[in-house]
Amino acid sequence: MTSTDSTDSTGSTGSTGSTGSTGSSAGSLAITRIGTLVTNDPSLGAGPLGVLTDAALVIDGGRVAWAGTTSKAPATDSHLDAAGRAVIPGFVDSHTHLLFDGDRAGEFAARMAGRPYTAGGIYATVAATRQASDARLAGRLTALLREALAQGTTTVETKSGYGLTVADEARALRVARQHTEETTFLGAHVPAPGTTPEEYVETVTGPMLDACAPHARWIDAFCERGAFGPGQARAVLAAGAARGLVPRLHASQLGPGPGVRLAVELGAASVDHCTYLTDEDVDALAQARGRTVATLLPGCEFSTRSPYADARRLLDAGATVALATDCNPGSSFTSSMPFCLALAVREMGMTPDEALWAATAGGAAALRRRDVGRLAPGCRADLVLLDAPSHVHLAYRPGVPLVRQVFRGGLPVVSGA
Ligand code: NIG
Ligand code: FE
Repeated sequence: MTSTDSTDSTGSTGSTGSTGSTGSSAGSLAITRIGTLVTNDPSLGAGPLGVLTDAALVIDGGRVAWAGTTSKAPATDSHLDAAGRAVIPGFVDSHTHLLFDGDRAGEFAARMAGRPYTAGGIYATVAATRQASDARLAGRLTALLREALAQGTTTVETKSGYGLTVADEARALRVARQHTEETTFLGAHVPAPGTTPEEYVETVTGPMLDACAPHARWIDAFCERGAFGPGQARAVLAAGAARGLVPRLHASQLGPGPGVRLAVELGAASVDHCTYLTDEDVDALAQARGRTVATLLPGCEFSTRSPYADARRLLDAGATVALATDCNPGSSFTSSMPFCLALAVREMGMTPDEALWAATAGGAAALRRRDVGRLAPGCRADLVLLDAPSHVHLAYRPGVPLVRQVFRGGLPVVSGA
């Protein structure tokens, strides 16, 4: 059994966000006898993951203060014996849609019986979300955040996009902002019912952006057949950028298209899905050298029975890859980063090391964060103690609840019994 403390559900410390308090513990804490410590800092340990064995990690003032071998650990006020268990950075889920009501289990069941996924299902969630009170929306959001935290996710990005009116989009972001700084204005998810895409883009780039920009860090659009074309996506991202929002983009989910190259051209922080890539897309992402991260969403491909994105091809070309859940009621209703990581290893050609990096440091890169996704001195002490000797077990033992304990901002927020 795992328990989460009551502040997790509200995120009231703000510690899932970029500027939130890091919390403070009662003095310094050393976690000792860590079987495998993944720091994601190559200067601290072996390989790209900066792995240390028989390691210790010192936390002070909500931050990582020291990492090294147990025998050299400095004196601290208290200590926790990891007894050979692995410690990894908390997962950074850089792509979710958690502001919604209703579910679409029927649509999922129909898909598993052979019906294809289409963007049209989004309208069912829009209808349910518009009916929901603010308290109901916040309640569903916090329940999902708590669920994610219990599975090791300590930083979450989330989007609007199920309101599609000025008032509904703005209130979704207002609610989200209470719980994370990583909020994304996705008014351009699909055109609002009863409007043409052209009319709707006028609204998104005008009054809706005015109402939403104060509550958002990012601007996103769904650039796909059935949603918005490249000219419309460009107009939305440019309008957002003019208001200080940083672009990211949904592209190449349902088929190849111009979205990936558009995202790279506009300097988007990430382009997400990347299920159908041309050689030119892969080249563009490789040339972007991490400025635009390719965020892969294997839960979506699982749940829509689509072909999986080819992570191997992207990694071999030199692109930076992140993994995220895409948690939403239509195409990927999972909050589990371990599940996505296991899928990426089995189905996308990633090694366990590459998948762990993509789910932690990769997600941080997609959010342009250096303080999370790593366990180097100065980073926020967001970490997961696994009931396993190494992170490889996350894919080796798929579906097994290996998350034993979670610390966020140096504080224990989930504890295994
Ligand atoms: O990222 N692709 C667009 N948006 C979501 C799906 C939304 C839905 O089906 O409700 C996604 O997969
Ligand atoms: Fe999405």
